Amino acid sequence: MAHAMFRPRRLREKPLLRKLVRETALAVDDLIYPLFVVHGRGVREPIGSMPGQFRLSIDELVKDMKDVASVGIPGVLLFGLPAEKDPRGSEAYAEDGIVQQAVRAVKDVVPDLLVLTDVCLCQYTSHGHCGIVEGGTVRNDPTLELLARVAVSHAEAGADMVAPSDMMDGRVGAIREALDDASFTDTPIMAYSAKYASSFYGPFRDAADSAPQFGDRRAYQMDPANGVEAMREIALDLDEGADIVMVKPALPYLDIISRAKAEFGVPLAAYSVSGEYAMIRAAGRLGWLDEERAMMEALTAIRRAGADVVITYFARDAARQLERGGAS
Ligand code: PBG
Repeated sequence: MAHAMFRPRRLREKPLLRKLVRETALAVDDLIYPLFVVHGRGVREPIGSMPGQFRLSIDELVKDMKDVASVGIPGVLLFGLPAEKDPRGSEAYAEDGIVQQAVRAVKDVVPDLLVLTDVCLCQYTSHGHCGIVEGGTVRNDPTLELLARVAVSHAEAGADMVAPSDMMDGRVGAIREALDDASFTDTPIMAYSAKYASSFYGPFRDAADSAPQFGDRRAYQMDPANGVEAMREIALDLDEGADIVMVKPALPYLDIISRAKAEFGVPLAAYSVSGEYAMIRAAGRLGWLDEERAMMEALTAIRRAGADVVITYFARDAARQLERGGAS
């Protein structure tokens, strides 16, 4: 008798068979939607390099949040554009700063939606760097105190989780201590632990007006060539009290996501950044690929690599697609 041959195609023949043995499920429950908030009223300004995304004033933001919650997205990640920038980024930790106001407004209207906040200074500083600049360099330790103030001000406004993205050493510990001292012992920290100095942040810097005015971020964000170092960064942040660790960007760093999940087995987020979004949108617009399918494939791949949480500008489109039954 002929040798019984394993034929992988047997389980690919019918859509329901494929679904039956599918290893990775992309669910709306795992998505976080990032948004940009600006001062003013009635502002809904399209972001040129991120088609489908807008800079929103708080009144407009609140309208969108109802829709976001209604499609089942569990949470949003807020970025703010200040009225004015200064060397110390003071609006970042002002009680009536744009993000602090936005958090209050969203929690007021859609209390169940999780509101996460980006903790960083770069949108707020006149020089566009993520920390205090002295003598032409970004100073680590003096920056920690400001970042801690940002995080506490977000928690005071009602943020459900704070997400430091600055890449200063020791910031998770400093933020944890400050939150605890202010009685926010239950506010979790999602640390941008392995955040690479990536060209894929281009459209975001355009959207958030946060490009550095001199130099670049390579003196504090990670070298794209390094993997072992990412594991060390994650270990450090966990040691300092991070509740969720993050790899960013996502698609060019799937190996890092996979290693992080295998080595640490802790809740892991991946940030599919503005450039990843822009690439798919742009190619879709040119008719070079099927945008909807590319989006679902990319998000599923990030989950398959090991991310529990996917932060993506596609969150609303993906949620709608999943509602219709998702991939077959
Ligand atoms: C701020 C910050 C950046 C992003 C998230 N938080 C930009 C940067 O580090 O320059 C990028 C997000 C994206 O590209 O979607 N530090």
